[in-house]
Amino acid sequence: MDVLDALDWVRLNLSHTSFIDVGCGIAWIPAMATDLGFAPAVGIDHNKEIVQLSNDLGFPAVWQDAFGLDYSKYDVIYLFRPIMNKEFEDTLECKIADEMQVGAIAITLGSNWNRIITDPRFNTIAQFGYIYLSQKLKA
Ligand SMILES: C[S@@+](CC[C@H](N)C(=O)[O-])C[C@H]1O[C@@H](n2cnc3c(N)ncnc32)[C@H](O)[C@@H]1O
Repeated sequence: MDVLDALDWVRLNLSHTSFIDVGCGIAWIPAMATDLGFAPAVGIDHNKEIVQLSNDLGFPAVWQDAFGLDYSKYDVIYLFRPIMNKEFEDTLECKIADEMQVGAIAITLGSNWNRIITDPRFNTIAQFGYIYLSQKLKA
């Protein structure tokens, strides 16, 4: 999977440790991130039933709305465009891009998350298939 290749690359090449999957579903990606050595590695989802299923499987989903979170405390932020409504999705992407610390990494879909890939504050540092790793260079 491209996203696991991307996470593996981050662990091998950078000192980043904390990880969040925004709109994580059953949170299999944060579970894999934990296995790769990220700590803490969490996922958030606003769907209570999915979070319950995730936790029943032993995966680390937390019930949380993506708009209510402070993204400045995460080193690596994975976002698989969780919101169907384009306007809300754009608003969330702007919030995340603004709040991320300089040096933090966004892992996004290259074809869709052009907002951050083309943001002049970010630099694409690696690509795995359709997955892009963009580092925030300027506040
Ligand atoms: C396509 S799934 C992605 C699952 C996982 N990240 C992956 O890549 O396999 C999108 C998830 O985003 C969640 N979601 C949508 N809007 C959200 C919001 N405002 N806050 C938190 N989660 C949200 C949905 O409940 C859904 O489980």
